[in-house]
Amino acid sequence: MQHDATAPTPPDLFTWEFATDPYPAYAWLREHSPVHRTELPSGVEAWLVTRYADARQALADQRLSKNPAHHSEAAHGRGKVGIPGERGANLMTHLLNIDPPDHTRLRRLVAKAFTPRRVAEFAPRVQELTDRLIDGFAGRGEADLIHEFAFPLPIYAICDLLGVPAEDQDDFRDWAGNMLRHPGGRPPGPGGGQAGGPRGGVARSVKKMRAYLADLIHRKRADLGDDLISGLIRASDHGEHLTESEAAAMAFILLFAGFETTVNLIGNGMYALLRDPGQRHRLQQALAAGDTALLATGVEELLRYDGPVELATWRFATEPVTIGGQRIAAGDPVLVVLAAADRDPERFADPDALDLSRRDNKHLGYGHGIHYCLGAPLARLEGQTALATLLTRLPDLRLAAEPADLRWRGGLIMRGLRTLPVEFTPE
Ligand code: HEM
Repeated sequence: MQHDATAPTPPDLFTWEFATDPYPAYAWLREHSPVHRTELPSGVEAWLVTRYADARQALADQRLSKNPAHHSEAAHGRGKVGIPGERGANLMTHLLNIDPPDHTRLRRLVAKAFTPRRVAEFAPRVQELTDRLIDGFAGRGEADLIHEFAFPLPIYAICDLLGVPAEDQDDFRDWAGNMLRHPGGRPPGPGGGQAGGPRGGVARSVKKMRAYLADLIHRKRADLGDDLISGLIRASDHGEHLTESEAAAMAFILLFAGFETTVNLIGNGMYALLRDPGQRHRLQQALAAGDTALLATGVEELLRYDGPVELATWRFATEPVTIGGQRIAAGDPVLVVLAAADRDPERFADPDALDLSRRDNKHLGYGHGIHYCLGAPLARLEGQTALATLLTRLPDLRLAAEPADLRWRGGLIMRGLRTLPVEFTPE
C-alpha cells in the first residue's frame, strides 16, 4: 500500500514497496519533514534533504564535504559510504570523493580531455552500437531491454571512448555486472561470464578492472592515440599532469559514474514511455517527422520524472550547518534526494505528470554545483540515441509484464529496474 501524503506518521523507507514507488513517501517527507533524519539499511544515520530549494542549496554548499574522512563514524571504522569494493583498492581519489582544491585541479584536467566536442564526434559510434544491440533481438519479437540493451550499451560506449580494445570489452561487461551484482553481464560458462557468485565477486572484479586500467594506461603512455585515456595522459594545466594512479582512478570513475546511471536512464525512461501511450506516440510522431526537439526536452523530462540517481552521492558536514531550518551537526552525513526534489510542486508545475515538452525544467538529475555531472553530454547522447532508435525500429514495443511484477534494484543511490520484458512485431 502506498503512503498517504496526509498520514500523520513518517512512511517506512527502504522497503520493497518504497523501492517500487518511492514518490508518495517523498511527497510526505517534503510536506512534513523536509530535512529528515533516518537510519539507512547499512545502519548509518543520515539526513535526507527532499525539497528542491534546499536540495539545490545543499548541493552547492562547500561546507558539505565529499570526503568520507569527515563522516563522524569514519573514525570508528563504521559506516559504509563508498563504491562497493573500492576500499583499499587505491581508486578512492576520484572526483566524487574529494573537495577543492584537489577537486578543482583534477576536474580541470579531465575536462580538457573529456570535452563536449569529443562526445559529439562519438555520436556515429553510439548509433552503431545501439543498432548492433537491437539487431541481436529485433527478429525475436521479445526481449529484456535491461539485460540485452540498456546494460551493455553504456559499458561498450565508455570502453570505446576510453580506448579499451574491442577484444577486452566483454571482460569489462562481466566485471561491471559483478561489481553491481547486476544480471547484465554475460551468463557464466565457457567463453563468458565469471563464476564465483556475488560474494567476493565485487572486490575481485574491482581488482581486475584496476589492474587492467593501470596496465592499459601504462601501455598508452608509450603509444598515445586519439582515445580518452590518451587524452587524460596528455592533458595538462599550467604544466600539471595527472599521475598514472590519478589517471587510473579517473578512468575508473568515468566507467563507474557513467555506467549504471545510463543503464537506468534508458530503462526508467523506456518504462515511463511504455506506460504513457499518449506521450510516447507524440514522441514517435515527432521522430517520424524528423523533429528532434521533443526528444531533447523529453530525455530531460524523463530524468526529472524518474531519474537514474535517486539520491546524490554522500556529503558530510564539516561544521554545523542549517538546511531548511534544520540544524545538522558536524560529521553528519547528508543525502540530497534528487528524486524528491525533482517532484517538488513548489518548483515544477504538475510534478507527477510526464510532459515531454516541459520547458521550465531545471531538474537536479545531473546534480548541481562543482560536482555537476561531467558526463551529461555523453548521457544525453546515449539516452537520446537509445530511445529514438528503439521507438523508430520497434514502433509497437509494449510491456510484457504487469508493472506490479517488475522488480527494482533497491540500491541506496540509484533507481533502476532489474528487468524490462517487452514484446513487439519482429523486424
Ligand atoms: C557526477 C548523474 C552519466 C560521469 C554526477 C552527479 C550526478 C550524476 C547526480 C553528481 C553527484 C553528486 O553531486 O553527488 C548522472 C546521470 C547520468 C550520468 C543521471 C546518466 C543519465 C554520466 C556519464 C559519465 C558521468 C555517462 C561519464 C562517462 C560523472 C562524473 C561525475 C558525475 C565523473 C563526478 C563529477 C565531479 O565530482 O566533479 N553524475 N550521471 N556521468 N558524473 Fe554523472
